[in-house]
Amino acid sequence: MANETIGKTITVAVLLCFVCSVLVSTAAVKLRPRQERNKALFTKTNILKAGGLLEEGKSIDALFENIEVKYVNLETGEYDDSVDPATYDAREAVTKPDLSRAIPAEDDIANIKRMVKTAEVYLVNKDGELETIIIPVYGKGLWSTMYAFLAIEKDGNTVKGYSFYDHGETPGLGGEIDNPVWQAKWEGKKLFNQEGALSITVLKGEVNKDRPEAIHQVDGLAGATLTNNGVRNLMHFWLGDNGFGKYLRKFRNQGVDNG
Ligand SMILES: Cc1cc2nc3c(=O)[nH]c(=O)nc-3n(C[C@H](O)[C@H](O)[C@H](O)COP(=O)(O)O)c2cc1C
Repeated sequence: MANETIGKTITVAVLLCFVCSVLVSTAAVKLRPRQERNKALFTKTNILKAGGLLEEGKSIDALFENIEVKYVNLETGEYDDSVDPATYDAREAVTKPDLSRAIPAEDDIANIKRMVKTAEVYLVNKDGELETIIIPVYGKGLWSTMYAFLAIEKDGNTVKGYSFYDHGETPGLGGEIDNPVWQAKWEGKKLFNQEGALSITVLKGEVNKDRPEAIHQVDGLAGATLTNNGVRNLMHFWLGDNGFGKYLRKFRNQGVDNG
């Protein structure tokens, strides 16, 4: 009976809370490096996937060694070599006033409100020559911000691959943006037309392959018009002059097949 006093009950509860909180915080601190490493591996995997560079049996880190990470000043389209890849995180940078800027509402077709001033690009070189440029893109779908890597051939115009890797769209509807079958439909599509106008789009329904404009069109996901519109809008934002437009133009100007 003496053991059932209020004081003892409170003491046991407090001790239990203390022990649990120590255990949880120790686990959080100890697991942080592993979480960071897994996050980095996930990002690398998706960059490699967009570039069609994943190979079974080869480690992600080894495959990623062929990729050069560079930073682009989006306002000028020039490389900015002052950025340190070890410390720069674009998702963090977008929250910092000195590293990002607000997007005027009339320009914000991707519905993202703010954007980084400097964005990373991943360059795939083969035998010392540039083969593919992989850029990060994102924008709002119906429910969520959808994040992807878009791989573009060195002509600055032909899609090499597309990999959506983070979103909250409905599985089976808009969530099909991460379906490899749909992602494969982007391969070979041309972003810009012969006049240099940004022409890539996602249709409602299927592309008529006999039409000349089919080269700029991708089948829309069924029952997901709002997600499809979000994908088209985010592409137009990031490929336009507020995004990587100035940077990519230089590749297209180097003698290009515009489809
Ligand atoms: C539970 C639920 C989930 C939905 N998820 C999506 C979605 O992820 N993406 C989307 O574009 N539409 C989604 N929709 C449908 C939209 O509300 C809208 O009807 C649709 O985008 C219209 O596309 P459609 O013209 O291709 O049918 C969802 C609807 C419901 C009821």
